[in-house]
Amino acid sequence: MTISDDKNLQIAAAIVQKGGLVAMPTETVYGLAADATNDKAVARVFEAKGRPQFNPLIVHVADLAMAQRYVDFSALAEKLGHAFWPGALTLVLPRNKTSEISLLASAGLNTLGVRAPNHPIAQALIKSADRPLAAPSANRSGTISPTQAGHVKDSLGDKIDMILDGGASPVGVESTIVKIDDDQAFLLRPGGIPVEEIEQVLGAKVNRIDGDKVEAPGMLTSHYAPAARLRLNATTPEPGEAFLGFGAVQGDGPYALNLSPTGDLIQAAANLFSFMRKLDAICTECGLSRIAAAPIPTAGLGEAINDRLVRAAAPRP
Ligand code: TXA
Ligand code: MG
Repeated sequence: MTISDDKNLQIAAAIVQKGGLVAMPTETVYGLAADATNDKAVARVFEAKGRPQFNPLIVHVADLAMAQRYVDFSALAEKLGHAFWPGALTLVLPRNKTSEISLLASAGLNTLGVRAPNHPIAQALIKSADRPLAAPSANRSGTISPTQAGHVKDSLGDKIDMILDGGASPVGVESTIVKIDDDQAFLLRPGGIPVEEIEQVLGAKVNRIDGDKVEAPGMLTSHYAPAARLRLNATTPEPGEAFLGFGAVQGDGPYALNLSPTGDLIQAAANLFSFMRKLDAICTECGLSRIAAAPIPTAGLGEAINDRLVRAAAPRP
């Protein structure tokens, strides 16, 4: 690394610590990195990508020890971590009880995708920022993943704070994603590490889930359903309801939380999953059966927020 690289890294680390967005090279593709413990920084990632839904993000860590601060490793998961990290393998594991990772980063799921990238610049950024980094591929939603700094600039240049240029990503395809469940491995996405290599290490088959059953978490209506029912586009709570407010629609009362009193959609997205959980807990504790939610505008991140709310309000199977 040259001196100027080092200087850029320090600047990038400071941006991350302040909640900003930095595109970083990894060996698979470039990622759009933000402090994974900062809800608002994570909300900015979704905003910059223009994602119509909150898909869970991969959290990048330096190594297995760092990942263990946020997720629970079974023996089998640990085996894969030892064999393939740093590298192009993402492991989806249960969030641990003390995980400081933003709930928005994992889209409200109880699992988290974690990966230790094998790239000196990504590694250096994680260490300098001293943070786990939530990073989806650094492209606008629905476009091809970037493998060079120039691709990122074309796609997101005006939306992010900095791009670290590490040349071309050597692997060039995204990481292989494996979920470990009940000590079985499930392939969620083929990628940079061939599944055969994983099977060799495990001495067992990796379960392939067929197309219809593939877990596409953002897409499942049941993926985060609160225990309480949800009523949408409410302007005021009815008796027996907790209230999820937005902007001027406060829904006063003892059981009301406001996603953003100033009507800021980035702040609202940052608060969405944690507030849903809080209200759900309040309902259980106080014997309420329903959460009423204020209308949310559909512009910008509003589309993703509405998408989540509509799914959470959908009839249960
Ligand atoms: O190589 C890569 O994986 C790149 C680099 C930047 O690390 N990242 C990447 O991120 O491709 P993204 O956001 O474009 O794709 C991540 C995928 C999504 O399809 C998401 O649904 C899945 O990972 N994912 C993340 N966390 C998950 C979880 N808890 N459960 C199931 N799937 C998860
Ligand atoms: Mg992507």
